[in-house]
Amino acid sequence: MTKTISIINQKGGVGKTTSTINLGYALASSGQKILVIDLDPQGNASTGLGIDRGKREKTIYEFLVNRNDDPNSFISKTKTENLDIICANEDLSGFETEVADDSKRAFFLRDVLDQIKQKSQYNHILIDCPPSLSLLTIMALVASDTVIIPLQTEFFALEGVSQLIKTIERVKENLNKNLSIQGVILTMYDRRNKLSSQVEQEARKYFGSKVYKTVIPRNVRISEAPSHGMPVIVYDKNSSGSIAYQELSNEILNGSYAA
Ligand SMILES: Nc1ncnc2c1ncn2[C@@H]1O[C@H](COP(=O)(O)OP(=O)(O)O)[C@@H](O)[C@H]1O
Ligand SMILES: [Mg+2]
Repeated sequence: MTKTISIINQKGGVGKTTSTINLGYALASSGQKILVIDLDPQGNASTGLGIDRGKREKTIYEFLVNRNDDPNSFISKTKTENLDIICANEDLSGFETEVADDSKRAFFLRDVLDQIKQKSQYNHILIDCPPSLSLLTIMALVASDTVIIPLQTEFFALEGVSQLIKTIERVKENLNKNLSIQGVILTMYDRRNKLSSQVEQEARKYFGSKVYKTVIPRNVRISEAPSHGMPVIVYDKNSSGSIAYQELSNEILNGSYAA
């Protein structure tokens, strides 16, 4: 059985892509077969996993348009064994308007993932969502079993969360009754800043045990890694950010896994 997880938050810059890349890598290193879907026209997950723009011939955009094509022609291998990706580029930003008249559009990504599941046996598919609650994100929610929400431990962290939860609930009621929240990741945590621990308390009060025990610290190595096209766990294995993402991956695999 393949489990599909959307990494979602309509705010930009909260750690969605970073979490997708590093969880993908950590899960793949522990022997899981992982597919990352880059669903953001910015294509940051593709870059961060080492697939340069020039090498992205067939992207998720083309797959969403040609849903019956062979999935393997869209999947790129990364440098890491067991870690594959379907890339994105700016073509994806026009998708929403192009399919605006198609009443089935919310199901397109699910159709595409069904194709993939028939051909390959991935343990997890991780979808790196764009920073919006637009069609792309709705498609991801319809195609997913669970969601993981990264929250940046800064002022305003919880602002917008109720809108996000409402969107998830709406999709659950109308389009995908099995959808659930798997967990919440606290990102860019700064132990010297009182605000981080305040936001942590608020998040734990709001989401209860859904918030992972492992907290991702603010760590400059995490922000350097993408420009080298690698996960921080490869770029600097012993950095605090690397260790945190490895622990988080263990927690996701072994701990509060029940959705
Ligand atoms: N824990 C962290 N410590 C330091 N920088 C981080 C951390 N997590 C993410 N970043 C940096 O913050 C920026 C936004 O992160 P990103 O994962 O791209 O967010 P999103 O995908 O939600 O827009 C990126 O430049 C990234 O490298
Ligand atoms: Mg991103």
